[in-house]
Amino acid sequence: MQTISVPLQNRSYPIWIEKGLLIKLPELLKPMNQGQKWVIFSQNEIISLYGNSLYKGLKSTGFQVELVVFPDGEKAKSLNELEGIFSQLIGMGCDRSSTFLALGGGVVGDATGFIAASFMRGVDYIQIPTTLLAMVDSSIGGKTGVNLLDGKNLVGAIWQPKAVVIDIELLKSLQEREIISAMGEVLKYGAILDRNLFEVVAENLNDILNLSKPELLTEVIGRCAKLKADVVVEDEREGGKRRILNFGHTIGHALETHFGFETLRHGEAVAYGMLAAGKLSNEDGRLEIEDFELLQTTIKKLPLPKLPEFDAENILKIIQRDKKVKDRKINFVLLEAIGKTVIVDSIEKESIIKAMESL
Ligand SMILES: NC(=O)c1ccc[n+]([C@@H]2O[C@H](COP(=O)([O-])OP(=O)(O)OC[C@H]3O[C@@H](n4cnc5c(N)ncnc54)[C@H](O)[C@@H]3O)[C@@H](O)[C@H]2O)c1
Ligand SMILES: [Zn+2]
Repeated sequence: MQTISVPLQNRSYPIWIEKGLLIKLPELLKPMNQGQKWVIFSQNEIISLYGNSLYKGLKSTGFQVELVVFPDGEKAKSLNELEGIFSQLIGMGCDRSSTFLALGGGVVGDATGFIAASFMRGVDYIQIPTTLLAMVDSSIGGKTGVNLLDGKNLVGAIWQPKAVVIDIELLKSLQEREIISAMGEVLKYGAILDRNLFEVVAENLNDILNLSKPELLTEVIGRCAKLKADVVVEDEREGGKRRILNFGHTIGHALETHFGFETLRHGEAVAYGMLAAGKLSNEDGRLEIEDFELLQTTIKKLPLPKLPEFDAENILKIIQRDKKVKDRKINFVLLEAIGKTVIVDSIEKESIIKAMESL
């Protein structure tokens, strides 16, 4: 088993990575079982795929275990859901000593993390990510939260898990589009922090997408998880360094908002956002053409949905509304090379429009 540590003083935790780890989880968690209530939080499809056997495994290993079922989809991350769930937890006899298990993608992870952060003023929880996006991104770093009608992730807390458990076997049941979308984030880690990772992923893109090289996939997920963990350790509350993780997200978020979930998934939007940010970096004289071309050819190898016609002025308006706009200046994470970033706030609107028109 590969272990990556996230050293955050008394909030430190391990990220465990191994193919087939879920089956071994009851044994692995045994030392943490002091007879408290354990609650698996998940969604129906994931429960029938993995939740039921985890429940049985824990039970037969002596855990007192319960199950909480979220609604399907992003609806699980809703403030409305919480009151009922808190009452359910009280009814189950949960208390300050309980341990929660988030079995699912980013939706389940974010909602469970927030419930763990606020139930009885904070209980322990463990992330068991079941999507590639959750494995490389959302399960690490302690950002938890739910959505309001006014927007996503508007209510939340930073609450670190006690462990993150990554088993790539779980990806076999995931829709291919979810894998492709998460590859946007995987390429992002390489682009901002690790040129060699970017090259390895670029050279093996198809094998990674169709999960045909488990060892390589495990290595890539581990490297992404380590990069995210290191950034979080340096800047837990996103005051500085953590902002580089927003590479591709300024334009990406705006495209995502404009086109909606059916047309463009988050990671697909980020992939387009990285193309535009790469173009801006090159036009701004910061990124050599060779590196821009490597970025561009690699992203274009991903089977992304074609962008429908759009008016770049409209996307710019969304960017300006976005929280990243301070003092009318638009903060942009640009590249100086593949693997090296710079944060710039002096980008002209015209350049942004031009970069979007090149998509
Ligand atoms: N906390 C953070 O730092 C952070 C970072 C990025 C994204 N997020 C959040 O993460 C969420 C997106 O997460 P996601 O992309 O994992 O989506 P998701 O959790 O909605 O999962 C995508 C779909 O795949 C299904 N699924 C999950 N695992 C499966 C499996 N192993 N087999 C078959 N189906 C499976 C789910 O039921 C769902 O329908 C968003 O709400 C976003 O805001 C949080
Ligand atoms: Zn993202």
